[in-house]
Amino acid sequence: MTSIVISSQKGGVGKTTVSINLAFAFARAGWKVLLVDADPQGSVGLSLTRQSRKLLGFFDYLSDDECSLKSLVVPTRMETFSMIPSGQGEGYELGGGYSESVAAKVQSFIDDAEQAGFDLVIFDSAAGLFGITRDVLVCADAALVPQQAEPLGIRSVPKMLQGLTDLRKLNPKLKILGVLLTMVQRNLAESAEAADALKELLPEALVMKEEIARNDLFLKASGKGVPVGVLQGADEFLANFNGLRLEIESKLGLKRDNA
Ligand SMILES: Nc1ncnc2c1ncn2[C@@H]1O[C@H](COP(=O)(O)OP(=O)(O)OP(=O)(O)O)[C@@H](O)[C@H]1O
Ligand SMILES: [Mg+2]
Repeated sequence: MTSIVISSQKGGVGKTTVSINLAFAFARAGWKVLLVDADPQGSVGLSLTRQSRKLLGFFDYLSDDECSLKSLVVPTRMETFSMIPSGQGEGYELGGGYSESVAAKVQSFIDDAEQAGFDLVIFDSAAGLFGITRDVLVCADAALVPQQAEPLGIRSVPKMLQGLTDLRKLNPKLKILGVLLTMVQRNLAESAEAADALKELLPEALVMKEEIARNDLFLKASGKGVPVGVLQGADEFLANFNGLRLEIESKLGLKRDNA
């Protein structure tokens, strides 16, 4: 089983959107995917299920030893796609540093997901590299970094990548998949220039080849609580996220056990 964290320094760059649509792409390709909302804001849950405010989830697993992973899994209409919302568990100090005891719980969560037969866990995370996001990164196999294509945002990317590299001291297996440009507007000079500047700034291997355009269909999809790919006219995005899946499979050398 493989675990991937969708992580960024900045908020609002498209982490939750990428998490949902990437999970959907893997599930469509036959992977048994568990999408986990590790952001206390609970955005994945709010996007995909209406009752998520009442459901138990990831933070309950962390705070209650009696809470089993299986009891938290919320199925979707698609057999290969399940999710775990952030839940009700309170008291986790978001600003806190890396904590060995929480990281140990995250590791047991990942082990339980493997036991339960999942092929892939995708964690949506809160912005920044501290607190619970750090604990998840300390246990995961890989990190993908969405970044909005805008001039100010891209400046923080090298620092973010350095932060991830530093984390590899605690988790040497952590593979940095690279930066995924999101909300790209190729017809707007500032956005296109920012996207190109990022590609010049970073080694080729650290920028995903796929990029995600800005499109109102993403807002429509989150309003309806579905991945964008199920909407009419979203074939371009189905193809994008499928391409991203293939890039990730190739970077991680992944093959489904039963493929
Ligand atoms: N490609 C896109 N085109 C248009 N709108 C988008 C796109 N991607 C994301 N959005 C919108 O931008 C907003 C922020 O996206 P999202 O919630 O995925 O970011 P985030 O990084 O998870 O934010 P946070 O740090 O608050 O968790 C949302 O309203 C989302 O619908
Ligand atoms: Mg989010």
